[in-house]
Amino acid sequence: MDSKMMTISSPRRSFGRTLASLAILAGLALGVAGQVSPARAADEPEIKKIDWPFIGVFGTYDTNALRRGYKVYKEVCSNCHSLNLVHFRNLSEVGGPHFSEAQVKALAATFQVTDGPNKEGDMFQRPGLPSDPFPAPYANEEAARAALGGALPPDLSVMAKALEGGPDGIHSILTGYKDAPAGFKLQDGLHYNPAFPGSQIAMPPPLSDGQVDFADGTPNTVDQMAKDVAQFLMWAAEPKLDQRHQMGFMVLIYLGVLAGLLYFVTRKVWADQH
Ligand code: HEC
Repeated sequence: MDSKMMTISSPRRSFGRTLASLAILAGLALGVAGQVSPARAADEPEIKKIDWPFIGVFGTYDTNALRRGYKVYKEVCSNCHSLNLVHFRNLSEVGGPHFSEAQVKALAATFQVTDGPNKEGDMFQRPGLPSDPFPAPYANEEAARAALGGALPPDLSVMAKALEGGPDGIHSILTGYKDAPAGFKLQDGLHYNPAFPGSQIAMPPPLSDGQVDFADGTPNTVDQMAKDVAQFLMWAAEPKLDQRHQMGFMVLIYLGVLAGLLYFVTRKVWADQH
């Protein structure tokens, strides 16, 4: 009898323990996701970690920051960088900058888009429509390189995911321009920036204090503009982040309820064995 009890109770306890550790693991994985960063070696780019509102299980984008970030992209970055994968109509989506449809129509029209060919076989320029993707500032790579001393400004659609450090990396590059330390060999036409791999970058410092006016009265420092445009580019690269976080949270609740049910069912089943 005694030995029988032993064999019954031990799998029961280990089952409970497995459930508990599973729940803890799931919680940890969801809570930590997006916050882990690998340790930095001495010669790697200097990247400052920002406490973004979209990090963590309950993280969401800040609509006002996305609107300011759009303005920074439009007035500054769009002179050199394309944003091929984003369409104007995306700017009205919930979870994004959430502009009204009338606002999106108006802001799309401030861009010139190449369309055609017309009946004569010629391409022509027209104001942008909500269904258009953001147009590229240069007709082709060669034109961009010719205008920018040989350097190519990359498309920014997925930059917040592709760049080392993600949105932190974008913010750090935009705020990272400094005088090169004595003895540093800066190549012609490049700018010293320890946030960029190799500490020199072809992009001239794009932001200066007070450059972009914010309608909501937020101070337009370089740091603020850099944060807002980085958040905007994070949204561009991952527009469904908010929904993903909500989904993660629902899965967590579901797993919790399921674990609880399993626990009581298991207890009941084993209690009947007495
Ligand atoms: C005058 C043109 C110009 C403007 C304006 C400009 N950039 Fe750049 N940017 C470049 C060029 C050229 C490069 C490529 C640099 C290189 O490869 O060394 C670059 C590189 C970058 C990179 C690094 C990409 C990589 O390959 O790692 C980021 C991030 C970036 N730009 C973001 C921005 C943002 C955000 C803005 C607006 C605030 C902006 N840029 C404004 C020309 C520009």
